[in-house]
Amino acid sequence: MGKIEVRNLYKIFGNKRQKALEMLKNGYTKQEVLKKNNSTVGVDDASFEVEDGEIFVIMGLSGSGKSTLIRCVNRLIEPTAGSIKVDGQEVLGFDKKELREFREKEFGMVFQNFALLPHRTVLENAMFGLEIQKVEKQQRIKRSKEALNAVGLDGWEDQYPEQLSGGMQQRVGLARALAVDPEILLMDEPFSALDPLIKKEMQSKLLDLYEEMERTILFITHDLDEALKLGDRIAIMKEGKIIQIGDHEEILTEATNDYVENFVEDVNRSRVLTAKDIMTKAIALLYPQDGPRTALHKMKKNNLNSLFVVNKDKKYRGIVYIEDVVDVINNDELEFEDIIKNITKADPEDNLRKLFADIADLNVPLPVTDEDDKLLGIIVKTNVLANLASEGKFDQ
Ligand SMILES: Nc1ncnc2c1ncn2[C@@H]1O[C@H](COP(=O)(O)OP(=O)(O)O)[C@@H](O)[C@H]1O
Ligand SMILES: [Mg+2]
Repeated sequence: MGKIEVRNLYKIFGNKRQKALEMLKNGYTKQEVLKKNNSTVGVDDASFEVEDGEIFVIMGLSGSGKSTLIRCVNRLIEPTAGSIKVDGQEVLGFDKKELREFREKEFGMVFQNFALLPHRTVLENAMFGLEIQKVEKQQRIKRSKEALNAVGLDGWEDQYPEQLSGGMQQRVGLARALAVDPEILLMDEPFSALDPLIKKEMQSKLLDLYEEMERTILFITHDLDEALKLGDRIAIMKEGKIIQIGDHEEILTEATNDYVENFVEDVNRSRVLTAKDIMTKAIALLYPQDGPRTALHKMKKNNLNSLFVVNKDKKYRGIVYIEDVVDVINNDELEFEDIIKNITKADPEDNLRKLFADIADLNVPLPVTDEDDKLLGIIVKTNVLANLASEGKFDQ
């Protein structure tokens, strides 16, 4: 069971919603429904599950229905049809009072326009959600201070919003959501208005917090960078529909149609970056004269669980893993030669997308070799991801 389960969700704006719903079910497009029935399709038959503890990103162009969808999840907008379950409970079945209690307990929400109250201090702003919950004052102060601390704003409690930069204001918004300690954070383009540097900082902050809190996050963005950096899985929306759901690799390598392909194409501009640009020097290598004990020593000293093996002219021979080295040391019948293994190699001209596909399932770096099989360097996974994320800028 997912933490959030959305099934066949529709949201139509306008007076002839039932007619519009029928048209959608009969295959009419958003444009046709607008033209023939004068209603706007917000969400068209969306189904997805968010796992407990996952960051699930919804990405799409402006107007594709992201905000409508996320607001349906906690019923800030009433869906036209469908089902939304949180922890197995049907959210659409709640009456007003149940809904309010459920919302307060379960959800924290952070928007692009963080709407801080200008005449309240940072601390008072952070306490806002707890006030609504009628949490007692000392508790309110304590929990808000903790939340401000978590987002790196300790010392700013008594300042007013206008005294803070945009990034800091957005952190107050985040602290306000965190203070109520929700099970689920709903974040609708929370960082879109921030300048790129602050944005990166906020993304990292969110990932740090996420590691600590282990909460479920539904995050919306129109930025593929951000989706790749934050999302465990990514759903792509177009004209109210979810047209693909997948992890990084699936989104980047198995684009299901032109629309997704267009997002990904932006990432693929990073084809200009190739293996030779992002490879690093191996911090240690094994040479022909090195035996298993030297290998183990080099691994321990450099904190590695594998090493690449080269000839004396630096020709690439393979990789050895620490478990195998230990086996050789303990077993006279095994030869060091026997444990040198082959893994996929990269060409210096391989692009990021190719590297990503090659390295996705590897737990060791990729060796980069030239046409003479000389080891030029190694590629580490985080480097591929970081470069993919920072290159693939999607313009709205
Ligand atoms: N209150 C509303 N009344 C009528 N149409 C709306 C309303 N809110 C959103 N829409 C329409 O629903 C569609 C999806 O909008 P929205 O969810 O805001 O997209 P996104 O967040 O992806 O930019 C758009 O066509 C938009 O014009
Ligand atoms: Mg929106």
